[in-house]
Amino acid sequence: MRHPLVMGNWKLNGSKHMVNDLIAALRNELSSVVGCDVAIAPPVTYLDLAKHHLGGSRIALGAQNVDTHLSGAYTGEVSAEMLKDIGAKYIIIGHSERRTYHKESDALIAEKFAILKEAGLIPVLCIGESEAENEAGQTEAVCARQIDAVLNSLGAKAFENTVIAYEPIWAIGTGKSATPAQAQAVHKFIRDHIAKHDAAIAEQVIIQYGGSVNAANAAELFTQPDIDGALVGGASLKADAFAVIVKAAAEAKQG
Ligand code: 13P
Repeated sequence: MRHPLVMGNWKLNGSKHMVNDLIAALRNELSSVVGCDVAIAPPVTYLDLAKHHLGGSRIALGAQNVDTHLSGAYTGEVSAEMLKDIGAKYIIIGHSERRTYHKESDALIAEKFAILKEAGLIPVLCIGESEAENEAGQTEAVCARQIDAVLNSLGAKAFENTVIAYEPIWAIGTGKSATPAQAQAVHKFIRDHIAKHDAAIAEQVIIQYGGSVNAANAAELFTQPDIDGALVGGASLKADAFAVIVKAAAEAKQG
């Protein structure tokens, strides 16, 4: 039985003040919730402070990116060992904003996946198609290509204890979420695609949905059998909305 994971991707938002207030509010809202793993990924500057404020809670620390190098002359980068050192657990890689604004390729993202596994960190591999690709009927081909970059270089076993986030680009920050049925169809495709290589690995991999998840639409998304939680952007910046989403996942997936 897969345990759902709801993770907040704060993107380029935050301040010391916000880290204090938002984490205090989340601890309060989520103190009695069991049945759903929870993580937050603040900007890298605030990871250490966030870890401090999360102390003793069940909320895990995540990060939004990692470099492929471990140390050396790579100005501006942060390594997997550094993220591990400060207590991060889940590391987002391949987010569409990084693929678009930083020209990250499937091959580079597969390298990041490998470096995280070697460090004992959990990759949260973001995949998903653009609006044009969706309209051209290429959703499955795009998702398959993005997963194959990891499957073909590292093998299916690399997906053990990892997370895939299906985030259709047209749904990110638009208020236009995929419908539960649309998302379920793609999640099932992703799981079946991995199952062609290793059925047991496919069965345990967490597949989150991301893209305009909010307090109003989360519960229905989580009724779908292959939706194992959510990667939440905008709504993760509000403690009450994020808590509703976490509680909806815990409720939908219990038993
Ligand atoms: P929104 O929830 O703001 O649409 O963002 C989704 C996302 O990109 C999470 O990684």
